[in-house]
Amino acid sequence: MSLYAIGDLHLHFQSPLKARAQMKERVWKNHEEKFKRNCARLITGDDTLVLVGDHSWGRSLDECEEDFRYIADLPGRKILTRGNHDMFWDAAKTEALNERFWDEEAEEHAKRLVERELVRLRASFEAARADGYRKYIMFLHYPPTNILEDGSGFTKMAEEYGAEQVIYAHCHGEARFHDSIEGEKNGVLYSLASGDYLRWQPMRVLD
Ligand SMILES: [Fe+2]
Ligand SMILES: [Fe+2]
Repeated sequence: MSLYAIGDLHLHFQSPLKARAQMKERVWKNHEEKFKRNCARLITGDDTLVLVGDHSWGRSLDECEEDFRYIADLPGRKILTRGNHDMFWDAAKTEALNERFWDEEAEEHAKRLVERELVRLRASFEAARADGYRKYIMFLHYPPTNILEDGSGFTKMAEEYGAEQVIYAHCHGEARFHDSIEGEKNGVLYSLASGDYLRWQPMRVLD
């Protein structure tokens, strides 16, 4: 039973492709096929695959149907977390959120989102702890720090709860691969798992 992770599949079987890099960079050419082949080679029915956000360009569940069918057909148990481009994911709430923050300064907006995510993350840790779990792996869609910082509320929380690993995505395109922490820091192992960075080979997180 192994645990795998990858993010930023950005599937678009039924929806218009929105990222320029995805149209012209070689690594994205037939990436759905490459990833499917790699999964078939590595992942068995007993394994788990965590998809850490930005699954689909579809804006509604209807527009994502084929993308979800593709994901459902991959081997193993799949766990999906929400990415910033996953508009299908309770789009009403996303819209309400955008409206609510429309007039705010961008920085203030980002700060509020981070604070909200930290509250949710703490709730997840507390729920896991209450269920008796003592070993943790933290999956994020966004990188745990911004490009200039080497610590954040997310790294602090990983350390506070003793998470062994932090897996994140969102940074794709070569210029962004090193935007945040990689490797071990204060006892936590940080890894970027965006799909193009991994060349569409799911990362083995645990054996
Ligand atoms: Fe993405
Ligand atoms: Fe993203």
